[in-house]
Amino acid sequence: MSEVCSTRKERALSPTPPHPLLGARVLVTGGAGYIGSHACLALLEAGARVVSLDNYSNSTPEALRRVRALAEESCAARGAPPPSLDVVEGDLCDLPALRAALRAHPVSAAVHFAGLKAVGESCAQPLRYYHNNVTGTLTLLRALDEAGARRLVFSSSATVYGDPERLPIAEEAPLRATNPYGQTKLTVEDLLRDLARADARWVITLLRYFNPVGAHPSGLLGEDPAGPPNNLAPYITQVAAGRRARLQVFGGDYPTPDGTGVRDYIHVLDLVEGHLAALARGAGGGEARAYNLGAGRGVSVLELVAAFEHASGRAVPYEVVGRRAGDVAACYSDAARALRELGWRATRGVDEMARDAWRWQAQNPHGYRSAQEALS
Ligand code: WQD
Repeated sequence: MSEVCSTRKERALSPTPPHPLLGARVLVTGGAGYIGSHACLALLEAGARVVSLDNYSNSTPEALRRVRALAEESCAARGAPPPSLDVVEGDLCDLPALRAALRAHPVSAAVHFAGLKAVGESCAQPLRYYHNNVTGTLTLLRALDEAGARRLVFSSSATVYGDPERLPIAEEAPLRATNPYGQTKLTVEDLLRDLARADARWVITLLRYFNPVGAHPSGLLGEDPAGPPNNLAPYITQVAAGRRARLQVFGGDYPTPDGTGVRDYIHVLDLVEGHLAALARGAGGGEARAYNLGAGRGVSVLELVAAFEHASGRAVPYEVVGRRAGDVAACYSDAARALRELGWRATRGVDEMARDAWRWQAQNPHGYRSAQEALS
């Protein structure tokens, strides 16, 4: 049958089609985390029902209280039914607890964020990283399979590419991790590829993040690292807020335009929109399909500093020091496959990332903790 192309007028009159996730119930592991909390909110706003599972080892239930409030406000404003968010405290390595959670809250899909992710820490504690990231994922997969929930979006990382031979990096680039954290991500990707090949009932999508930055524009959700931030953006905002004296720029002699490290920063809202597109993806066809989630452009350390100084109106003092072990000079994505196959691309620029991240820092100087909690 030939496809009838509607006219612009007909399209304008026809109601927007319901989101493919409307009514779906989705498990979000790490739902209280930086990206997980933003994903929970986006799923609720798309009309999905959400079950968050988190052990709060690197997050706080306060994030989910705010997700619920934002979702209730958004749904009410749109005349949509109230959001359905169930919050479960539990550990991925606890199979009985996972089974109980999935019995109590049957889901049809899962987005798997939960994992340890500090590169330096993984070098010091490899067994902890393998247990948490690999054993935890295996336990999750067993519980999901028993429950018949065989649609999975996995939070992978650009670190599976190691030190790239060519830029921008496409999904076909060689995979070779250069630290235990990256190796756990690669190990999980490999086991998911084997699972998809063995059982076509699974629909598995691997999302390789580049550098997530930014926060929900309300200023109520954001990145809240425990202790001194490992990553650049939260360190910059803490310097701008006066919580830290200055930024150390790791290396000023890289073969890059200004000598500092170049990365592909992507707004966290763009990132989670990529997850919703992945969840709506069609049948897996026996392949765990990987997609780069990046903006597809390189930004240097000093360029990011300048963006935050502009967004905050504050100076960000810094000193250039030696290179950080394990760092690569430049890393940025070719995200054409996600646009071609998922209809997704990043739309928010570095200035919007800096503006939103600064708003979160300024409104929450101690992250999700209150001032008195921060003093205790
Ligand atoms: C970015 C740039 C640093 C801090 C890591 C993980 C990756 C992902 C994102 C999880 C680099 C420089 C940093 C500082 C600096 N996480 N820098 N001073 O290393 O690209 O990626 O986090 O998936 O897997 O590897 O991010 O923010 O640490 O560094 O000069 O205090 O900023 O040298 O050039 P990275 P980053």
